Amino acid sequence: MPAMLLAACSNPDSKVASPDGAVKVEFKIADKGMPSYSVVYKADTIVRPSTLGFRLLDDSTLAENFEILGVDHSHHSSKWVPVWGENDTIADVYNAMTVKLQQRKSGFLMNVEFRVYNDGVGFRYVFPEQRTDSLYIAEELTQFAMAGDNTAWWIPGDYDTQEYEYTESHLSQIRAKNNSDQPGNVSATGFSPTGVQTSLLMRDANDHYINIHEAALIDYPAMHLDLNDTTMVFTSHLTPGIPAAKAEIKLPFSTPWRVVMVGSATDILATNIIYNLNEPCALEDVSWIHPTKYMGVWWEMITGKSQWSYTNAEDFDLATFDYSKVRPHGNHGANNENVRRYIDFAADNGFDQLLVEGWNIGWEDWFGKEKEYVFDFVTPYPDFDIKALNDYARSRGIKLMMHHETSGSPANYEAHMDTAYALMNEYGYDAVKSGYVGNILPKGDTHYSQRMVRHYLDAIKRAADHRIMVNGHEAVRPTGLARTYPNMVGNESAMGTEYRNMSVGHVTILPFTRLKGGPMDFTPGVFRMDIGSFVPGSTEHKKATVANQLGLYVTMYSPLQMAADLPEHYAEKPDAFEFIKEVPVDWSKSIYLEAEPGRYIVAARRDKHSENWYVGGVNAERPRTATVDLNFLDPERNYVATVYADTETANAYTNPESYTVYALNVNAGSKLNIPMATGGGFAISIKPVSNK
Ligand code: NOJ
Ligand code: CA
Repeated sequence: MPAMLLAACSNPDSKVASPDGAVKVEFKIADKGMPSYSVVYKADTIVRPSTLGFRLLDDSTLAENFEILGVDHSHHSSKWVPVWGENDTIADVYNAMTVKLQQRKSGFLMNVEFRVYNDGVGFRYVFPEQRTDSLYIAEELTQFAMAGDNTAWWIPGDYDTQEYEYTESHLSQIRAKNNSDQPGNVSATGFSPTGVQTSLLMRDANDHYINIHEAALIDYPAMHLDLNDTTMVFTSHLTPGIPAAKAEIKLPFSTPWRVVMVGSATDILATNIIYNLNEPCALEDVSWIHPTKYMGVWWEMITGKSQWSYTNAEDFDLATFDYSKVRPHGNHGANNENVRRYIDFAADNGFDQLLVEGWNIGWEDWFGKEKEYVFDFVTPYPDFDIKALNDYARSRGIKLMMHHETSGSPANYEAHMDTAYALMNEYGYDAVKSGYVGNILPKGDTHYSQRMVRHYLDAIKRAADHRIMVNGHEAVRPTGLARTYPNMVGNESAMGTEYRNMSVGHVTILPFTRLKGGPMDFTPGVFRMDIGSFVPGSTEHKKATVANQLGLYVTMYSPLQMAADLPEHYAEKPDAFEFIKEVPVDWSKSIYLEAEPGRYIVAARRDKHSENWYVGGVNAERPRTATVDLNFLDPERNYVATVYADTETANAYTNPESYTVYALNVNAGSKLNIPMATGGGFAISIKPVSNK
């Protein structure tokens, strides 16, 4: 039957519900032939009818005059096994609906594919192969019409940084509170007073939590959201780069998934919808990918105790500069002796790797200069003996971790990447922390443009060819791509511990937002909170208790976990350090016990390689007693729990280093009440001792 005729005479069923029936999506052609969708959860409207489409560079649109050619429905149920993760198996169960559309007159074909899970909805645009072979997209016009003036936890929309504190406010207050001009970010580009980033967490009037994010961001710019604060309608806002079109795509093409998660607070923490919407693992051999606990010659530079650079030289050309002719400033952190000291400490305490930053030449020539060519990623400073130090690390049973600061110059990094990865192979490194500080060069490009999104994935794929794991800082926020490329073991892409002054609530929001796309290299484990006590002149105080820092190893899932502080600060608190030494970085099961964004999070996880359980809690401003019901333990066994907790007088502002460690006999019938201080938390390790 010809397509036009089918559309005219049929009334296709364009509704789809989740397998448990709680989430319902309806697709409709609205006025003027505009494609639209809406989402209902347990009889409450989550997304009011919202239109879909695109504006193209020539000002034509793919937003009106559409008709339905047909609708396909299907059910999917499978399980997959991640290489690393919060759980050893992940269920992928959804009902799917593909609405096939054609635009009148132009004849353009565009499908909208929906997947409806018990805890949310994903949909994407699919452009089949057709006469048109490329699209130049000026803007994506996907709407998310909220049902009311939701409470939101948001960061400002920005083309260049995600390193922000979250603001908790009603949607109607975003305009008044939006400030992309916060300290600390060297590159920041806001675009609208009502612009925000994803993942965007909200709570509606019915106390449902809603989170809008994207999945499988490939070959396309990152999506921001711009709010009409009269109608409470968000519209997608793609990140621009240098070309006039925000996205240039070749057909056939599928956009990233637009995702609306919905449920209770702990449902949002537990949902795997973002990973499920990504493609299965693309790597044949993953035997070389491994969860990693590491220390770093790093915190000493971040706090200002030592420096990345070797000299104070200015105005030089890296290609011709002769380091042997300039006197070093004497405060270079990555020197042979210091690195050996860290290797010994990390090896003695069971760590897998030691990150060393400032090992390579060029740091004198970098900050604020915006030069295309700063680093070559292969030439060590004269006091960093790359061969001897790697040999020494190996002799002590650990590895060094590589560092590539790209200085915001992707073209320079791309030119040097294969040589840089080959150098890593030569010396035995298998993980790199990369970074993109500063404005992206050439000027006009941005951190989350289509070109940069391509760059980050290219760096991960090329690393995989060299069997190298990647932890990208300042790269685009993750969207679950680690399912497909599990060598992407970490990202920063949010405000991490290196912002020493962050508020105490930050860590109670990140697992709801940033972590939905993939693990964060948050770098927890700070034990000495008064930075001035070891960096002369510093007035900084980290606002967290020691027990809070331990709790983070459980509440902030990552297969890559750092112990950020200096060896001498761990040596001062050996009983608390025990937890960091023993906490696993890979799990067979995870349960979120209680949580409220901006207030507290309590999580329990079972080690992937033993029957041991670990529980962690983090708390924001208001002191709170966590109730930890151990009913997840095996009822046939007895366990001993070691509890690391805040003391009665602990307080992130006034008494941050006060903690207590004690042991308890527990079983599946035990309920523990654990007080958490302001900015506090706790950690528990639970090990079986006998059968009952
Ligand atoms: C920013 C990263 O987030 C930080 O961890 C790193 O030390 C500096 N860049 C230097 O590259
Ligand atoms: Ca950073």
